Amino acid sequence: MTRLVQITDTHIQPPGERLYDLVDTAAHLRATVAEINRIRPAPDLVVVTGDLVERADAESYAHFLELIAPLEMPVYVLPGNHDEPEMMASLLAGTPHFPVTDDTFQYSVEINGFRMLALNSHAGGSELPELDGDHLAWLQRELPRSDAPTVLAIHHPPMQTGIEFIDMGGSDWYQGLKDVLSGEHNVRLVICGHCHTDLVGRVAGIPVYMSGAIAHQLVAARDMDIAPAFEPNPVPPVLHRLVDGEFVSGSYPWSSNVDTQRIDRTSGIPWNELKKQMMGSKAP
Ligand SMILES: [Fe+2]
Repeated sequence: MTRLVQITDTHIQPPGERLYDLVDTAAHLRATVAEINRIRPAPDLVVVTGDLVERADAESYAHFLELIAPLEMPVYVLPGNHDEPEMMASLLAGTPHFPVTDDTFQYSVEINGFRMLALNSHAGGSELPELDGDHLAWLQRELPRSDAPTVLAIHHPPMQTGIEFIDMGGSDWYQGLKDVLSGEHNVRLVICGHCHTDLVGRVAGIPVYMSGAIAHQLVAARDMDIAPAFEPNPVPPVLHRLVDGEFVSGSYPWSSNVDTQRIDRTSGIPWNELKKQMMGSKAP
């Protein structure tokens, strides 16, 4: 069974600081970590698709590491526009979370029948994305190295979103990625964050799943060039699961009362009986 949990845009700050003096992003991440640990069966891995911290400094990354420490499965991270890949590589060097080996700051992980390729779309000095020749050459080298169904994880959505302030990067920056993905490969899914809102799209015909943020959401700016509205709430973790050779994806809340609220228990009707009722005339 292949199960990958994605969270994104945690925007952690040094202990005691609130984001914009408003949001306790550490509390959001702490609650999310507890929620992921409740999920059964346990996911194979958790990936945080960038913007781990609000301000790239040692104190913020240390706080981030402290908050994800209780996760009971392997955790991987990749850089967003708020991160500094070089700083991450140095501060996370003693951890298994960011296993980079060169200055593209990209890496590959294979676990339990699937592979994740983590890309680095961070551009120095801008929130806008960048994926230059070295990064694409790395991807092109990695793709044929495994037959496993592959997830490509990247911070910025490699597609037009209809969100004006996100699309300011134009389409040139992901044209190279689109060209690579137009060839032969086993990439089944692209996952990303960055926009602090959820969206599903495609690049070179491959599904792109963009998750909302753990820190806060930015809403109501689709198809209009207006500033987005700020919502100080996290979204649930996203579960990507390999089913019949393809990934199925969706937000996957797992509240602490899942066991008491199961419909067989609240109705007092055994689950097999409930399933028979669902099948109706198609029951064997
Ligand atoms: Fe973000």
